[in-house]
Amino acid sequence: MKPLFSLLLITLSRQVGAQLNRVAQAAGKLYFGTATNIEELSDTAYAAIINNRTEFGQITAANVMKWDSTEPSRGVFTFGAGDQIAALAKKNNQLLRGHNCVWHQQLPSWVTVGNFDAPTLSSIVSTHCSSLVGHYKGQIWDVINECLNDDGTFRQSVFFDTLNTSFIATALRAARAADPQAKLYINDFNIEGQGPKSTAMVNLVKSLQAQKVPIDGIGIQAHLLVGGVPSTLLANLKQFTALGVEVAITELDVRMTLPVTDALLAQQRRDYQTVISACRAVKGCIGVTVWDFSDKNMVRKPAIHGIIAGFA
Ligand SMILES: *[C@@H]1O[C@H](CO)[C@@H](O)[C@H](O)[C@H]1NC(C)=O
Ligand SMILES: *[C@@H]1O[C@H](CO)[C@@H](O)[C@H](O)[C@H]1NC(C)=O
Repeated sequence: MKPLFSLLLITLSRQVGAQLNRVAQAAGKLYFGTATNIEELSDTAYAAIINNRTEFGQITAANVMKWDSTEPSRGVFTFGAGDQIAALAKKNNQLLRGHNCVWHQQLPSWVTVGNFDAPTLSSIVSTHCSSLVGHYKGQIWDVINECLNDDGTFRQSVFFDTLNTSFIATALRAARAADPQAKLYINDFNIEGQGPKSTAMVNLVKSLQAQKVPIDGIGIQAHLLVGGVPSTLLANLKQFTALGVEVAITELDVRMTLPVTDALLAQQRRDYQTVISACRAVKGCIGVTVWDFSDKNMVRKPAIHGIIAGFA
């Protein structure tokens, strides 16, 4: 999801202080991670931090594993850019979150305007997911991204319009067949708190489980507005994990309308702490990923202390 307002990225530095992945793991989580883009890796200050496993134990490719990057023409797979991110994670012994197999955005036009009939599109979805998950083996995958509307109905897309909901099971089954070890997720935004969309997610997971479709986790994006952490976040994490799946906070950021004020920074710090504490409190919440960070100021902003306090 693209943030709607000016985004204040967390800034980190190599100043002395608690390291994010270290505190996450000390709290029993698998990782603290970040999304990244290849262009950012040439910034030496940024690269030093992302390569430091005490800060980040998990990496998500923000863009380069999406459909338009990985299968720009039918059956032609281009993994070069994704491989750069995968190599970085491997070199640093960081987990890699594959992002993503099936999404309604960043699709090449051959998919969106191909006018494929249902069996053909189903086979295209299956081939795309099995190729991707088979290439990046042993990883966590956002197999389905953003398939729900805020009112709990299914989102219209070339996939839903042609295949109804069957593309979801098709993608998950293809992913499982390509890599039985991969953790398969459905990822979405506005499912942080309880409401029609998170209820729809519960119903979707239950329906997949009833059909014996492989589903291991629910990814909660958490693109939040400062002061806007839902009061039902913790209850919602519990309701998701009660289904027998794991959850992860996958794209956390807390945006604010500029100019920055001390009050906004303090609220942002509290918001990070609230989200992290909720994940910490729920055993099935495996980790937290921020939607990238910035190092322009070389100052640890209050948000960092909120993250650390949340894991404490
Ligand atoms: C990672 O960061 C910590 C804290 O800033 C620092 O002490 C450590 O040397 C760094 N590790 C590497 C490999 O750069
Ligand atoms: C779409 O699938 C759902 C079940 O997931 C079913 O209830 C509904 O009738 C289907 N719609 C169409 C138009 O086939």
